Amino acid sequence: TALKLGMIPADGIGKEVLPAAQRVLEALGSSIPKTTFIPLQAGWEEFNRNGKALPDETVKILKEECDGAMFGSVSSPSHKVAGYSSPIVALRKHLDLYANVRPVSSVSIPNQKSYHQCDMVIVRENTECLYIKKEEISTNPDGSKKAIAYRQITSNASSRIGKMAFEIALRRGAEREAARKAGKEVWWNGEPKVTIVHKSNVLSVTDGLFRESVRAVKEGTDRYNGVKMEEQLVDSMVYRMFREPEIFDVAVAPNLYGDIISDGAAALVGSLGLVPSINAGDDFVMGEPVHGSAPDIEGQNIANPIASIRSAALLLSSLGYVEPASRINAAVDTVLAEGEYLTPDLGGKSSTTDVTDAVLKRL
Ligand code: NAI
Ligand code: MG
Repeated sequence: TALKLGMIPADGIGKEVLPAAQRVLEALGSSIPKTTFIPLQAGWEEFNRNGKALPDETVKILKEECDGAMFGSVSSPSHKVAGYSSPIVALRKHLDLYANVRPVSSVSIPNQKSYHQCDMVIVRENTECLYIKKEEISTNPDGSKKAIAYRQITSNASSRIGKMAFEIALRRGAEREAARKAGKEVWWNGEPKVTIVHKSNVLSVTDGLFRESVRAVKEGTDRYNGVKMEEQLVDSMVYRMFREPEIFDVAVAPNLYGDIISDGAAALVGSLGLVPSINAGDDFVMGEPVHGSAPDIEGQNIANPIASIRSAALLLSSLGYVEPASRINAAVDTVLAEGEYLTPDLGGKSSTTDVTDAVLKRL
């Protein structure tokens, strides 16, 4: 078999870090099937060139030809631009990538002492909440304005993301158990745990439905008996995440909260440039660094490529290539632990290319 991966660098540092991830995938040689990379267009620049942020062609090729994809980052303007809408939000919808899975971990890197020790996975619902982008604005009789945003929460979307979270907790539990049996040191010693993040003390209807639906996933079966279930209001989630991130294993959240807490969690491990993600559905997976297009550093070859390289590893392991994926992660950890080649976000002086070369050398 051969692999076909759609590569969508999009804008800003996406165009610097995605090629880095591709170089690492290419270096795996025969340990993965022969891989063809298909360059695809999307983004703000594409919108300005051709009037569409997400060309139909891109969606068509992803759907009909690709086994998976990698997305870089898009520069979405902060003001409304007629005809423009974020292509990453649209892609998640078109491909039904209903889960955004974001592992945030520092425990595999022994030398990384300055950061919090934590090893958690944030599972973010990816298709609804406020990101349905149904907004209205009207003018009051006195000339002042009123804006309203609709927030959609459905039991279907909430239970499937809940199920994804419990499955991930179960798998992590099994992996830790296997490591323990093999005599390896395991960082987390408790039972697997899912924390439901919500604000249903205030938004009892929408967040209430999210909470109920996720709870019902565990309560409706024996399968997750070994997984603990806890809840955390989103504001105290932020607080506790910064004070004692080590207490979290898997956290599941509606779209907006998940977006916000995962950027926050990235700070715990030292940089947004380290945190990978996959957008996952039942039939398709797309790797994507958690960060955006970073206009403040674009074009300088100093963006940290690790988030993107780790996203490629996540993509591989979800496609079933677990061993080559762990080789990538081990190479990245070695580079971080050695501390010789680090980009400026981690206090180093190395370039995107230097760090990528260093990873390739240790692969
Ligand atoms: P950002 O994530 O692009 O940058 C935030 C900060 O982190 C900046 O100081 C940046 O330099 C730094 N940073 C991010 N990635 C880095 C990396 N790999 N290496 C080193 N430093 C890194 O968020 P910001 O600045 O709020 O947004 C910029 C643009 O990105 C906006 O147009 C926004 O809409 C878009 N964006 C796109 C996302 C996506 O494509 N999924 C996600 C978040 C934002
Ligand atoms: Mg974000």
